[in-house]
Amino acid sequence: MTRVVSLREVEEHPSSGADSNGFLFELEGELFRAVSGHGLGVVEKLLDDGTIGSLCDRLLLVPTRRADLSIEGYPLVVWHEKLPIVSYPSEWSFGMLKKAALLLVDLEEALVPLDLSVHDAHPWNVLYRWTRPLMVDLGAIMPVADTSLWNEADRHPLWPAYNQFRTTFFNPLRMMSWGQTRIARALLRDYLGASDAETDRMSPAWQARLRLAAGDLKRQATRHLRAGARKTFPPRVLRLGQRFFQALRSEVPQAAQPLLPERRQRLRFLAAVKAHLSDLDYGPVLGGGTSYIGGQQDRTKYYEELHGGAVPDLTSTAGWTAKNHTVASLLDRCQPRIVLDIGCSTGWYSRLAARKGAGVVACDSDEGCVEELFLTCTREGSPILPLLIDFRSPTPGVGPTNRWLRPATERLRADLVLMLALVHHLVFKQSMTFQQIVETLRLTSRRWAICEFIPPTDTWVRDLFGPRFSWYTLDSFLDCLRGAFDKLECFPSFPEGRTLIFCERS
Ligand SMILES: C[S@@+](CC[C@H](N)C(=O)[O-])C[C@H]1O[C@@H](n2cnc3c(N)ncnc32)[C@H](O)[C@@H]1O
Repeated sequence: MTRVVSLREVEEHPSSGADSNGFLFELEGELFRAVSGHGLGVVEKLLDDGTIGSLCDRLLLVPTRRADLSIEGYPLVVWHEKLPIVSYPSEWSFGMLKKAALLLVDLEEALVPLDLSVHDAHPWNVLYRWTRPLMVDLGAIMPVADTSLWNEADRHPLWPAYNQFRTTFFNPLRMMSWGQTRIARALLRDYLGASDAETDRMSPAWQARLRLAAGDLKRQATRHLRAGARKTFPPRVLRLGQRFFQALRSEVPQAAQPLLPERRQRLRFLAAVKAHLSDLDYGPVLGGGTSYIGGQQDRTKYYEELHGGAVPDLTSTAGWTAKNHTVASLLDRCQPRIVLDIGCSTGWYSRLAARKGAGVVACDSDEGCVEELFLTCTREGSPILPLLIDFRSPTPGVGPTNRWLRPATERLRADLVLMLALVHHLVFKQSMTFQQIVETLRLTSRRWAICEFIPPTDTWVRDLFGPRFSWYTLDSFLDCLRGAFDKLECFPSFPEGRTLIFCERS
């Protein structure tokens, strides 16, 4: 029997308030969508004819089915799988943003035979389940001919939301492919994305100069021709000529962009979009990108040096250091469901935690590390979500009360937080205090944390240490940690002299 619930019983999702086709809500830990408005008929039909089931099976749409639930004023309620972690496009690596963009193009292609379209084609409508992006906004799927969302000027005739897709996916990806990742990321935090004009300005300098030069030449040639024509022809002939050229100009775009899109034309257009996207490659990071360890070769070298010659294998414990063993046994002891690895680098400990059954959010401020880890865990099929987050300033919340989009410190809260070989970076290179570092652990950890202290005598710290850091001692770090956790245990780490601190909150 259908369960009837009242609006008062449900918790409305803070990001879905303004949707005219219904709203998202949580009830008893599960996620539902109440469907209304003109979306009702569409969703009813797609549920009945098996389209929604098939889109879910093809991993284009988040698992969705009709719920045995009804809510006053909303005759239809659907259930959605609640994804473990919510992440946002400014936190994704180049490869992740590209994969999410291709997902939306694939979904749009699947909708062409049904004369439907994704009308809200921005990256906040895509969420990652580990390395797999999924479209989560069922309400965005509407008849292609629907004109309720876009006015005529913004609506693309072959994919109504294409201009939005272009500014929020395609243009940021182009910027990233030119190495302008920081600017692309800053614009990815803005729901308007990157306009064509903003993107053009980021293109490699020679292209911009060529365009400028061509523009100047064209302007000068036009000025001379106009001046010559004024001398040669009487004004009436000139006006006729102007009208003729104006008519020609207005013909061209109409012929290229027919108002009534045919399915074949839409498919051809989407194939071209896909080809453009596929051609974009991750370029070298320009202009102060946060590449801590450097290129791929250096990253591997860093791990080799740290482990005395070779990166230890995850499948056998041969060659493991004391640090490897201790972290592994603490993970076995706690059996966390979700682990947050802050400063994960290329993710050895993230992958270890995933092998031990945890879902892992692996964060680093180095673009190259996150991109590399995304490729590794996609290949391995590991339950790891790599994210580009600088924990000196983690992604803030959006909206008047930070509820519309929640801050990273809330979204990424985990049972166990790893902060290995990071504290010295935060202190010596990023001006963070022990209090701020421990506050980060307190906010992000539900129960446990494993952090590492590198002493001032360590080769990686010796040159950075000075009298103004006299407070940088293991004892004062432990004192700070005691303010946030109930129990601390210390273990020797590797190389010798470093300490692993296991923190527990009861
Ligand atoms: C020494 S490596 C440690 C890697 C790994 N945790 C381990 O123990 O093997 C430090 C990592 O922290 C990252 N990092 C430095 N500052 C960071 C910050 N503010 N937020 C996130 N990651 C940071 C660096 O990019 C680097 O990959």
